[in-house]
Parts: sequence; structure tokens; C-alpha cells
Amino acid sequence: MLLVGPDDDFNRALAKEIDAELVQVDRRVFPDGEVCPRILGEVRGSDVVLSLRMMAGQCRPNEYLMEVLFTVRNLKEHMGAEDVTLVMPYFPYARQDAIFRPGEPLSSKYVAELLEVAGVSKVVSVTVHLHRLGGFSDLFSDAEAINLSGFEALAQNLRSLPLMDPFILGPDTESINWARELADSYGTDRYDAFKKERDFQTGEIRTFVKEIDIEGRDVIVVDDMVSTGGTMANAVKAAKEMGARIVVSAFVHPVLAPGAVDRILGAGADIILATDTIEWIGSKSTVVPMIARMLRGG
Ligand code: R5P
Repeated sequence: MLLVGPDDDFNRALAKEIDAELVQVDRRVFPDGEVCPRILGEVRGSDVVLSLRMMAGQCRPNEYLMEVLFTVRNLKEHMGAEDVTLVMPYFPYARQDAIFRPGEPLSSKYVAELLEVAGVSKVVSVTVHLHRLGGFSDLFSDAEAINLSGFEALAQNLRSLPLMDPFILGPDTESINWARELADSYGTDRYDAFKKERDFQTGEIRTFVKEIDIEGRDVIVVDDMVSTGGTMANAVKAAKEMGARIVVSAFVHPVLAPGAVDRILGAGADIILATDTIEWIGSKSTVVPMIARMLRGG
């Protein structure tokens, strides 16, 4: 088996764990924004795992998607790979898992279809943000779809922090599932979630707190992803105002639009913890062992 992807810490660790040779991809981007990902090695006749991650802070999911689509197609059509498994730890457009307003696209489904047309036979992702579908595989027709949980990776790092009997808090109603997953992994039954409303036009977020007794307690505010940081910052601020001692902001996907980290720290977060599903220099938790276990069939 070959691992195809950029020569970075994530892929070096993954290649080692699955005992695969790393064939590099050079992620070239022309000045006009067009991408030209180049595969720097021989893959003919091999089963390939393609591992490409989006970069944090740049807000370029479209550039990332084109890189993935071009590389998959190239591997299958020109480079002669036998089979392509895609490791796409953050699945862009997953939040558009429904047509919320008339005229909108069903983007998550379209992305899955594009990947299948390009030639993937299996897609491995982490904590895919699908609330309105039964599961990740509902997006695909033929390709196998695997959705791993990123919360165990967060829990491992959280357990090493000096937290006293922490309360796990989701910032909005949907996040109660994430809070439960993290609570299960962490080993506590103390979790709950606030409510949130987002104005579809302006993006403005209003958080409605619940009366939860967190005075003097340590709190982990957990979400699947942070983009602008607005949802997380509101919840962190509310937790602090409710008397929380240490507030950890923990999330799987550090999408992190410009200003997001400052927004969360400015709201009072003492610690920020995220995984490496997206390339971010601040990631402290890793999903590599979990993905490797799955690829090894364990
Ligand atoms: C939404 O339902 C997600 O789980 C996140 O809460 C949301 O995407 C975060 O977005 P932002 O950081 O822009 O508030």
C-alpha cells in the first residue's frame, strides 16, 4: 500500500503506522488561485491511500476540494493506481446537509458525488457534521464511507489537563450529541448544552444559556468545529459569567477563520484544544492513530 500526500508530520506518522511508503504530493497553487497538485512518484498498479488536509485560517474549502478531486482523478486515470481510499479528515460542506431555504444547493451530497465520479472507492473522515441525515454513507452511492469520532482524541489530551471534575458543555442544541460523545470518552455523565440562534442573513449568533450549576467548576465547552469562533466565544463567555473556574474550548475541526482564536481567548477561554483534522499549528490532539487503526482494519 502507498500513502500519497504532502510530506508533513501527519502523513509521516500515518505512513509509519500503516507501514506504507509515502509518495509526496506537491500542492502547487498558481498566482491566479488555480491548483496543480503534482504526484511525485510511481503509483501504477498500487492500492493508494490519499491523505490531504485542508489548511486552517485560510477559508479555502473550494481550493482544497479541487486539489482532492484533481488528485483522485489523476491517480486513477493517468497514474494507474488500482484503488484509491481518500483520507479527508474534515469533510467540507457537510453543514449543508439539507436545503434550509428554497433555492439552496444540497452541497454535502454534491461533494460526495464529485468524489465518486473522480474515482474514490472509500472515504475516511472524522466527526462529519451531519445532523439531518442518517449517516455519512447516505451521501454516497457506491463508495464506502467511514465516519470516525474525533472526540476520543480530544478526551485523551483533556485527561492530561489539571481539571477538577469538569462539566462538559455544548454551545448549541445540536451540540448535545458532541457533548455526550466527549463525556462518554472522557468518562463523565455531567454534560448539557446551551441553545443558539443564528440569523441566516447576517450570521449574527445569539446564545441562550441554561441554568446549570457551574459556579467554581471547570468547564469544557465542546463543539465539532470552530469557524468564525462566534458560537464558541459566546458559550465560553457565558460559562465564565456563570462563575466557571477554568474554561477549556475543545473542538475537533480547527477551521478557524481569521480572528477566531482571538475571539475565543478574548471571551475568556483558558485553554484551546483542537485535533489535527485540519492543518493548524496549534493542534495538540491527533487523529492519526485512529485513522491508522481503521486503515489497518483493526
Ligand atoms: C454548527 O452547527 C457547528 O456545529 C458549529 O457550532 C458552527 O459551525 C461554528 O461556527 P462559528 O465558529 O462560525 O460560530
